Amino acid sequence: MSQRPASLSASSKPVLTDNLGRVINYVRLAVTDRCNLNCRYCRPKGPCNEARSELLSYEELERLTRLLVGMGINKVRITGGEPLVRHGMISFLRRLRAIAGLEQLALTTNATLLQPHLEALRELRLSGLNISLDTLSRERFAAITGQDLLAEVLAVIEAALQVQIPLKLNAVVQEGINTDELLDLARLAAARPIQVRFIEPMPFDGGNGFVAGNWNLARLREHFQANLPPLTETPLAGSTAQVFRVAGFRGTIGLIGGFSRCFCATCNKIRITPQGMMKTCLYDEGVLDLKAILRGGAGDEEIAGLIRECLGRRQVDGFAAASRRKDGGLAGSCASMATIGG
Ligand code: 5AD
Repeated sequence: MSQRPASLSASSKPVLTDNLGRVINYVRLAVTDRCNLNCRYCRPKGPCNEARSELLSYEELERLTRLLVGMGINKVRITGGEPLVRHGMISFLRRLRAIAGLEQLALTTNATLLQPHLEALRELRLSGLNISLDTLSRERFAAITGQDLLAEVLAVIEAALQVQIPLKLNAVVQEGINTDELLDLARLAAARPIQVRFIEPMPFDGGNGFVAGNWNLARLREHFQANLPPLTETPLAGSTAQVFRVAGFRGTIGLIGGFSRCFCATCNKIRITPQGMMKTCLYDEGVLDLKAILRGGAGDEEIAGLIRECLGRRQVDGFAAASRRKDGGLAGSCASMATIGG
């Protein structure tokens, strides 16, 4: 076996693992709980936007990101709320981009405020842009989101393709609302090099009584297998989505079993909510109050130790995490995706 110089050996990079040996290299940073849309499956019930002082500041977010990258995180996705409603977001992204060891920086957005920032995002070498798009009907878009902005979103999707930012579209599958459009949405990947992803609805609608319906992963797969050109699954280690090539398509389709929770065994991510709670599972209630720890004056070593401690007791899957919630599972929960970070 040939010897590699020590400086190039893979072992020189820090590796963060949990109690079950899962490698954690991905953090989702929710930078605001505010959003200019009001999607029925995501919005919090009633006004709940936190005061700015309750949110992590950009300085706190950058410090945490540096610390996490030093521990083994190499991918950060910025989520919200809608990240682009927070002032100074692009400068913040530039600061994150300068962190050595952070290989991938991605953004999830509803795209309604994206147009003026596309060039800046291209310069930032953004590794991925995920845009929410649940429907191709103007009326339905307005009904789902509360805003008549479908044309703007479709235009910015085409513009993002022009600046060659790797693009994924996220459609939340909503029984009786967009389930007759799933094939049309999938066909957006026919001529475009994008991934169109279909997400099982999850019970994070702020207690609004949103009904998930019965479009689970298996049914989605059958639906596309029966109605699209032949699908070939592409195994992607660590991916949340089951990704399929479609014969003749430039792009791919992805299915995300967020409710089935079938990817927990390889889950590589943690989340930080806008209020600075760390979650080691989408379904837990938050396991570490990073904001209190940061504002209490803790040093980097201490914070790193506390994060490792939480990862040392990470639940085996999203069902176990949900059952440990103090609100008794998710029934009656007012958790909302906007305040979790998707
Ligand atoms: N169920 C499933 N997906 C959701 N998203 C937001 N709320 C829900 C929910 N209740 C998705 C949006 C967004 C992504 C980050 O999370 O499609 O693109």
